[in-house]
Amino acid sequence: MTEQRRVPFNDLARGMTRDRDALLDATAAVVDSGYAVLGAQHAAFERELAAYLRAGDAVGVANGTDALELAIKAVMPQGRSVVLTAGNAGAYTSTATVRAGYTPRYADVDPQTLCLTVATVSDALTDAVGVVVVTHLYGYLGDAAALRTLCDERGVALVEDCAQAIGAVRPDGHASTFGHAGTFSFYPTKNLGAIGDGGAVVPASPEIAARVRQLRQYGWDGKYNAALTGGTNSRLDELQAAFLRIRLPLVDGFNQRRRDIIARYRDATTGLDPELLTVLPADGVEHAAHLAIARSSRRDNVRAQLAGAGIPTDIHFPLPDWEQPAFARFAPQQDLPSTTTACVEILSLPLFPELTDGEVETVSAAIRSLT
Ligand SMILES: Cc1ncc(COP(=O)(O)O)c(C=O)c1O
Repeated sequence: MTEQRRVPFNDLARGMTRDRDALLDATAAVVDSGYAVLGAQHAAFERELAAYLRAGDAVGVANGTDALELAIKAVMPQGRSVVLTAGNAGAYTSTATVRAGYTPRYADVDPQTLCLTVATVSDALTDAVGVVVVTHLYGYLGDAAALRTLCDERGVALVEDCAQAIGAVRPDGHASTFGHAGTFSFYPTKNLGAIGDGGAVVPASPEIAARVRQLRQYGWDGKYNAALTGGTNSRLDELQAAFLRIRLPLVDGFNQRRRDIIARYRDATTGLDPELLTVLPADGVEHAAHLAIARSSRRDNVRAQLAGAGIPTDIHFPLPDWEQPAFARFAPQQDLPSTTTACVEILSLPLFPELTDGEVETVSAAIRSLT
């Protein structure tokens, strides 16, 4: 009997092996520099990230959840206390909101893109809302400019959670440059991944940048003088900054490879009942294709068939935020049908740039064989 070859859902070792020499050289450079935090690597990464995004500035922080927390703190208007967001984006914003001392509330998502839009946000904007956090979920940069206009009209700040969307770009700008702040995670599986944790805030003004820089270091305005309430320790270390500098120039190529893989999975669904499996599109540079998302009204059965063919799947994310015990007290009064339906239908297929063409074909063949 031939053994069923398994396609990995992700395999970080492949990228580390590819980048091994550069990563070791960068490690030596950091060790030789004598700097561990806030040194030359960190300063260069902040500059290079801002240049890549065509943004005015970028502020390194310890991870993507801290980036959200500090961004929310830095832009929340005086007297407001509610953060409006989507409930299908993994609860990172809910976590950051509660840590910032505010209250999360939820708007429904668009049934097609599964992201917040002007249409879904405008009905949910009450006077208490101070910040809207739009997650560019799965890598898709929607009409963030229109969301910004709506927020400006209502005196609300917009934060873009770009943890899954680095490199997503429209003619009027990169993801992270439409809001009052954009946030990134460099968790190892992200499209730009560190070898550890990392994150960044892209501020829309020098004032917001200064607040985030203070908040990431104890609220200090100078050494040992905490001038701003709500400060914390959230620094991106020199090693991670050095590693990220190696990979930043590779992101656009990785994103294209991710889109190409999703296109092949979509081709494989030709002729299938869309209720059985529909792979969401990730076409064009406005989509960073972080995850290969499919929908199925028979999800458990489809996952079992794929598992039988050696294809692991996952669910991003299985529960709306308010169905998780930590956030149950924020459950919305009304039904948010597109959010709840998505949570029971979505599944994620293997997707990372180092997947081989043979593995992509193995997944595609398993999709074609679904019944
Ligand atoms: C959409 C989204 N936002 C925020 C985060 C939080 O990032 P981190 O894990 O670096 O805290 C993640 C990933 O983990 C994410 O996928």
